[in-house]
Amino acid sequence: MLIAGNWKMYKTPSETEAFCAQFEPPAGVDVVICPPFTSLREAVAGGVTVYAQNVHWEDEGAFTGEVSAPMLLELGVSGAIVGHSERRQHFGETDETVAKRAAHALGAGLGVIACVGESEEERESGVTADVLRRQVAVLEPHDRLVIAYEPVWAIGTGKIATHDQVQEAHALIKSLVDVPVLYGGSCKPDNVEPVFAERDVDGALVGGASLQVESFTAICEAAARIRS
Ligand code: PGA
Repeated sequence: MLIAGNWKMYKTPSETEAFCAQFEPPAGVDVVICPPFTSLREAVAGGVTVYAQNVHWEDEGAFTGEVSAPMLLELGVSGAIVGHSERRQHFGETDETVAKRAAHALGAGLGVIACVGESEEERESGVTADVLRRQVAVLEPHDRLVIAYEPVWAIGTGKIATHDQVQEAHALIKSLVDVPVLYGGSCKPDNVEPVFAERDVDGALVGGASLQVESFTAICEAAARIRS
């Protein structure tokens, strides 16, 4: 199992140091922290495996506001999230840019967590499978690629998907590309166990609950328990 904490736009460098000083990843689970760019150095120094929250598809160039794979690698960063729904919603990320970011990062030696997932409207109109097929089709299989299934309606809403919905989506994704699949969307220590017990769930991408050492540790421990 892999548990990744997506800190989004939270935690300054000193807050990152404080988290890492307190946090001890439990045995039996792989743990990744994804801080903002400005806190990557502190997280790496804190001894955890660190992924960025985004990465560009060129090594350098006139791309104001972007960060490249060689820049991350020099800091000791191991990978990056690409295609998070907040980037798709607010920053114009498309399946095409997600594919370019993922392919370049993997080629450069980084790990990638590529996010996919349907909106509430798409689920209600019965097109979830089509959306997932379209989003996954652009991703090439790779041994450092992980996909995160994050239904948009479950992110930050407190409304976790049911374990049946999760299993169905994960099985579909794995039938399209044979890589580990994480679930993301309102994971909390008291609701993750039924999801973790599903056959095609290989871990979680955790937002809000990854910001406190206690709740993040509890989710990591639940993952370690379920496969032990
Ligand atoms: P959440 O976020 O756990 O706060 O719902 C998950 C994510 O956006 O990756």
